[in-house]
Amino acid sequence: MDVQKAIEERRAVKHYDPSHIMAEAAIEKLMKLALLAPTAFNIQNWRFVLVRDPELRKQIRAVAWDQAQVTDASLLIVLCADLKSWEKNPARYWAQAPQPVRDYMVPAIDTYYRGREQVQRDEGMRSCGIAAQTLMLAAKDMGYDSCPMDGFDYGAVGELIKMPPDHAVAMFVVIGKPMQAAWPLPGQLPTGDVVINNRF
Ligand SMILES: Cc1cc2nc3c(=O)[nH]c(=O)nc-3n(C[C@H](O)[C@H](O)[C@H](O)COP(=O)(O)O)c2cc1C
Repeated sequence: MDVQKAIEERRAVKHYDPSHIMAEAAIEKLMKLALLAPTAFNIQNWRFVLVRDPELRKQIRAVAWDQAQVTDASLLIVLCADLKSWEKNPARYWAQAPQPVRDYMVPAIDTYYRGREQVQRDEGMRSCGIAAQTLMLAAKDMGYDSCPMDGFDYGAVGELIKMPPDHAVAMFVVIGKPMQAAWPLPGQLPTGDVVINNRF
């Protein structure tokens, strides 16, 4: 599937075949593709929690407005941001870069993020959003449907997955085989309402 077709055909699907099991090789391929999503300074601040335990899925569904896709999709991915990835051995993000690039980039990471809590959080949300779209397009290409989600109690989900205190939950992406197509596109804004040339 080409990229344009994947973009056009991706829809937020809400009803999944609960009996479909995604092969481990497919999960591995999907995650390899997701890890190619870009991050600022290459800090790779996304963390992908694959919720495989059916009991945990039920508990998460209970704090996610009882949305069926949480338990019925083949894969529930909780995208979390490691808010402090920038200071956790940052040399590893540039390990294969030429020496002059490494010498410039590694200290620049510290200068940019240290003491800027809001920037650290914003960066985490940006990275997870880009990774989520990468996952959804890759899933489409692999014959799956998906749904991005933020309809859940963030605090409760963080506790259920035992998230470390220096992380933040960004969103869910569920992936699986559809039982029911998405409803028709509900109402796209005209280009002129949202595309601004040069200045507002
Ligand atoms: C950040 C985000 C959170 C969303 N949360 C939910 C959700 O909790 N439950 C749900 O059924 N759909 C959710 N959606 C899906 C949107 O309703 C859907 O993407 C939108 O209506 C556009 O439809 P489309 O994705 O099929 O083009 C969410 C989408 C985004 C981007």
